Amino acid sequence: MQARGAAAPGAAAAHGAGIFDDEPGLLVDLLEGMIAAAINAARFIRARSEDLASIEWHNKAPSDFVSDVDTGAEARIHQMLSERPEWLPDHTAINFLGEESSPDAALGAGLTYVVDPLDGTTNFLHGYPWYAVSIGALLDGTLVAGVVLNAATDELFTATLSGGAFRNGDQITVSSVGEPGRALVGTGFPFKYPEQIEPYMRQLPAIFRETAGVRRAGSAALDLADVACGRFDAFWELRLAPWDVAAGLLLVREAGGIATDLTGAEARVASGPLVAGNPLMHRWLLAELRAASDEP
Ligand code: IPD
Ligand code: CA
Ligand code: CA
Repeated sequence: MQARGAAAPGAAAAHGAGIFDDEPGLLVDLLEGMIAAAINAARFIRARSEDLASIEWHNKAPSDFVSDVDTGAEARIHQMLSERPEWLPDHTAINFLGEESSPDAALGAGLTYVVDPLDGTTNFLHGYPWYAVSIGALLDGTLVAGVVLNAATDELFTATLSGGAFRNGDQITVSSVGEPGRALVGTGFPFKYPEQIEPYMRQLPAIFRETAGVRRAGSAALDLADVACGRFDAFWELRLAPWDVAAGLLLVREAGGIATDLTGAEARVASGPLVAGNPLMHRWLLAELRAASDEP
C-alpha cells in the first residue's frame, strides 16, 4: 500500500520543543520515520482485512476487543520506532506508550511515541472500512508530531508543531462554519464506561436538535482528523485514552482548531473527556454540553 502524498510539512520553528527549536528540519525527519512506521502497520492491517475469519480476537472488557492484528501492528510500529534516529542526541531517551503493549508507560523526559496501532478495532473486525493507525510524538511532554493513517482508504493526515496540518500532503484547516444549524458534529459513544451513559444521553439530544447532524464513525483518531480538515465542525467524547488523541490533538491545533476538556482547559495527552472543533463551534458545543450536564 502506498500512502498518497506523504509530503513533509514546512519546517517552521517549533518553539518550546528543545532540539527542534534549533533545527526545525529535524521535525521533518521525525515525521518521516513515523509515517514509514504507520504505512508498514497499515499494510499489515489491510492484508489481514482480506481474511477476517482468520483473525483471533477476544474481550479486554465488555465491548472492548483486541485482536492479533492490533498486537501485530503495534509490534511492527514498535520495532521501527525503536531504531534510534542518528540525529537524536545520545542523552535523549526514547519511550513508547502503546495501547496494547505498554498502556501505562509514562510520558517522561525525552522522545515519547504514543501509539494506537488500530483505532476502530470494532469497525475493522466487522469489515466496516473506517479504522486507522495513530502515532503521536512528544518531546519532554510537548506534542511535536502526529500521524493518522486511514488504513482502509490510505488517507494520510500529518502535523508538526508550528508546521501546520496536512492531508495527503495538502495543507488543511478547520471549517469556518459557526452556525449550529449548519454544523456536522462527530461523537463517540461511552460504550466502555456505563456510568457515563446517563450524562451522555442528556447531551446527545441537546446537540442533534440544534445541529445539521451528529455522526458516530467509530475511530476517535479519524474523528479528530475530520475536525482538522473541516468535515466535522466539532466533536466530543466523554472519555478517551492518550493513544486515541495524541496525534489528533496536534492535527486539530495545527489546523486552527481548539481541543479542550469539559472545563474548557486545553486538552492533554491523557485519559479524559474531549471537546474539539473550529473556534466558533467549539465554543458553542462546550457551552451546550455543560448546560446539558448541569440539568437535573
Ligand atoms: C476506540 C475508538 C472509538 C472510541 C473509543 C475508542 P479502539 O478505540 O476510537 O471511536 O469511541 O472510545 O476506545 O478501541 O478502536 O482503539
Ligand atoms: Ca483507540
Ligand atoms: Ca486501538
